[in-house]
Amino acid sequence: MEKKTFYITTPIYYPSDNLHIGHAYTTVAADTFARFMRLTGHEVWFLTGSDEHGQKIDRAARSRGQTPQEYVDKIVEGFKLLWERLAISNNDFIRTTEERHKRVVSEIFERLYRQDDIYKAGYEGWYCTPCETFWVEARLEDGNCPDCGRPVELLKEESYFFRMSKYADRLLKHIEENPQFIQPVTRRNEMVSFIKSGLEDLCVSRTTFDWGIKVPFDPKHVVYVWVDALTNYISALGYGGDDGLYQKFWPADIHLVGKDIVRFHAIIWPVILMAAGIPLPRQVVGHGWLLLDSGKMSKSKGNVVDPHVLIDKYGVDAIRYYLLRELGFGTDGLYSEDALINRLNKDLANDLGNLVSRTLGMADKYFKGVTGSPGQVEGPDEELIALASETPGVVMDLMERRELSNALGAVWRLVSRANKYVDETAPWVLAKSPETTDRLNTVLYNLAETVRFITVITSPFMPLMAPRVWPLLGIDRRPDLHTWESLIWGRFPVGTVVRRGDPLFPRIETA
Ligand code: MSP
Repeated sequence: MEKKTFYITTPIYYPSDNLHIGHAYTTVAADTFARFMRLTGHEVWFLTGSDEHGQKIDRAARSRGQTPQEYVDKIVEGFKLLWERLAISNNDFIRTTEERHKRVVSEIFERLYRQDDIYKAGYEGWYCTPCETFWVEARLEDGNCPDCGRPVELLKEESYFFRMSKYADRLLKHIEENPQFIQPVTRRNEMVSFIKSGLEDLCVSRTTFDWGIKVPFDPKHVVYVWVDALTNYISALGYGGDDGLYQKFWPADIHLVGKDIVRFHAIIWPVILMAAGIPLPRQVVGHGWLLLDSGKMSKSKGNVVDPHVLIDKYGVDAIRYYLLRELGFGTDGLYSEDALINRLNKDLANDLGNLVSRTLGMADKYFKGVTGSPGQVEGPDEELIALASETPGVVMDLMERRELSNALGAVWRLVSRANKYVDETAPWVLAKSPETTDRLNTVLYNLAETVRFITVITSPFMPLMAPRVWPLLGIDRRPDLHTWESLIWGRFPVGTVVRRGDPLFPRIETA
């Protein structure tokens, strides 16, 4: 049988500056979905990239005395390095300065113009450069950008416009008929009221700078950076060409984006696709923001948190765990290094780390690591086995609902149950008498099997941990026991030799 396909994207990031921990959140979350879908038997395409055109980049480059291309080339190298360090498993990386991308943008722009969905007109409007967004006067707040609160500039120019208004009713109908299209529901409601308040035609070209894709039939103009950027999701699949990726993977299953850019993905992008006669993505998921006590992270405030520094200090899995656990579905989370340390010490060092080291340590001490076959189910066994057996289904369900943090929560319920099981069964007492050797063996078998379950289920979230634990569990050469299908209680092989290792997550001592 052919595998089901799954296509997930991150936003393409602006290389106006290096990425911070907030950007890392979006990509780590997308990576977790991608890995989870691979683990559960899908053929996955996972795309990320860089959004390299526009005035913001142009200005950032020039203020440093570089050409925009020189400037972005260097920053994009940094993006790739960061993703590598965070164990991001993207299949492709698209840059909007690549030919393969420019071709598709020009083609679609021209098509929409030929069919009169794009037209030329005089324009006067307010532009927010940091957000690369036009606003009509009525939407401004105290004369500033309603999104970021910064000053806007008045622009007067001949421009091309896209007839968004023409598609508003069709889009509303689509949103109403497809409740999964925009998630979570709070974002969906925001979008519905935005559309109901009236969609204006969108200015889709600029003449005041030239760092962009030229309008093919009128090269004085460059294509508006958001139209350029959104098109990456199909240009990267070779839309219009014949390499088969587009046919195989479009429509996207998830466009994962931050809440600030849901509007572009859930309104502008679908309308462009409708006009171009291309199927719409299945889902746009808008996650919350990672905030600081002092508010938003921003270079100008000098409060950005550098992911490299955190990786160096705490390790990749720990950072991934923290990000994925801390932000609830669609809601904001507060970042602080103290909160991070507390979580790592509690969840990783104490709960998970102790479970693994106790399990391996006792097996080593009492049986020289050899696991014997488990005996009768008794006492708390039943509850542990039942919880372990149902956890994959619970996690699967939460992943379908895009609730990453709750999915981890479900695994940690199993971790806690297993730790309680150790206390209840007290293997150190069982070890005192030869009559309870069989029981001791059963308890340790159950713990080893629980640890196997936990490593498999968490592998999309913390991809470096499972390959560290499997050799200790003696199953590193058994890929058949690393799969989702292998999560059937009792597959842990009798006679396996387990051994102790270094602590998985050492406690972080604070002053
Ligand atoms: N270039 C556009 C996206 C174009 S997609 C066709 C863009 N780039 S961005 O670099 O500014 O932001 C990319 C993503 O990072 C967005 O999803 C944004 O929400 C996310 N984040 C930026 N700061 C963030 C936090 N502090 N917390 C969580 N996510 C954050 O927008």
